[in-house]
Amino acid sequence: MEKITPRSLIDFGDLAYSEANEIFDLAEKIKKSPADYSSVCRGKIMATLFYEPSTRTQLSFQSAMMRLGGTVIGFSDPNNSSVAKGESLRDTVKIIAGYSDITVIRSPLEGVAYAASLYSKVPIINAGDGSHLHPTQTLTDLMTIRELKGTFTGLKIGLCGDLLNGRTVHSLLRALCGIGKNKYYLISTDELKIPEYIRQTLIESGSEVYELNTIEECISELDILYMTRIQRERFKSYEQYEKQAGIYILDSAKLNAAKSDLIILHPLPKVDEIEYTVDDDSRAKYFLQAENGMYVRMALVSKLLEYDKQPIKCEYPLPSERFCANPRCVTNHERYLPEKIVVKNSVRCCAYCEHTI
Ligand code: NCD
Repeated sequence: MEKITPRSLIDFGDLAYSEANEIFDLAEKIKKSPADYSSVCRGKIMATLFYEPSTRTQLSFQSAMMRLGGTVIGFSDPNNSSVAKGESLRDTVKIIAGYSDITVIRSPLEGVAYAASLYSKVPIINAGDGSHLHPTQTLTDLMTIRELKGTFTGLKIGLCGDLLNGRTVHSLLRALCGIGKNKYYLISTDELKIPEYIRQTLIESGSEVYELNTIEECISELDILYMTRIQRERFKSYEQYEKQAGIYILDSAKLNAAKSDLIILHPLPKVDEIEYTVDDDSRAKYFLQAENGMYVRMALVSKLLEYDKQPIKCEYPLPSERFCANPRCVTNHERYLPEKIVVKNSVRCCAYCEHTI
């Protein structure tokens, strides 16, 4: 994606590998002695704009900012903001940038954080845009993998569940492709397979990729098993969701065949895909992972706030016609957004949501 000013995090790839490592190093230091960082963001304000439900991401960002000595404003129910009166994303973002030093945004619309970054004079952090990306969950996942496995390469990684709609999976796979050579076991039903653009990235990175229908086929091989929830809110109807729900359940019986140093990750919330007895298995690391999310967000926020505020240019010509066919793309909801196209692997894509044009 094109470089954004001021420094925002829309995709994990916005960070150079060395910068990501600096963030992990800092997150580890903060985790060891949080008190040393308790005034790093004194006097700074974070705005959290959540147009979609969230527990961990929103609260860990808020807690991160408060532990750094900063304060937080924002909303978690857009019905309590002017969005309910029909205000555009552009206006909301411009106004909030005047009130805060950094903005965290989550929405069901794909490309929303990128769109917001075009109009914000403060850094924007993507806290999840529809089924597209979730880079701070990726930082959380990678910090946990680094802590427990000490490497991002040479691993056998299973990812199970809603690989089609799960933005955490998309972000994580894309990030891992750039930093390691691993074997990936993509476990899903045929209906919920990984999107083609992510599969292509895996193949082009030289990774070995296996697409499977059951956990049993690969569990004995795995170093990491990344479980995910079937994303009910992304289905067109409840009936369609029901057909996919409850197919993958990780239980103690399945884990009998797994390695003793397997680590089980999950971005959470979990619904029924992990049996409660598994929580007590020493290989279950998802609660540690959720806690790491706060430390890595502390590190990220303190790094992004090192960059100065800069004026932005956002005088773009209005688009003549709609260019993205993805109904969930932010451009089809915020109609003033300029046409932005990127070419990836010789294919023209929407720069907001990455769907093929
Ligand atoms: C995930 C998300 O919102 O994409 N949760 C999170 O941020 N920790 C995963 C999910 O909702 O299933």
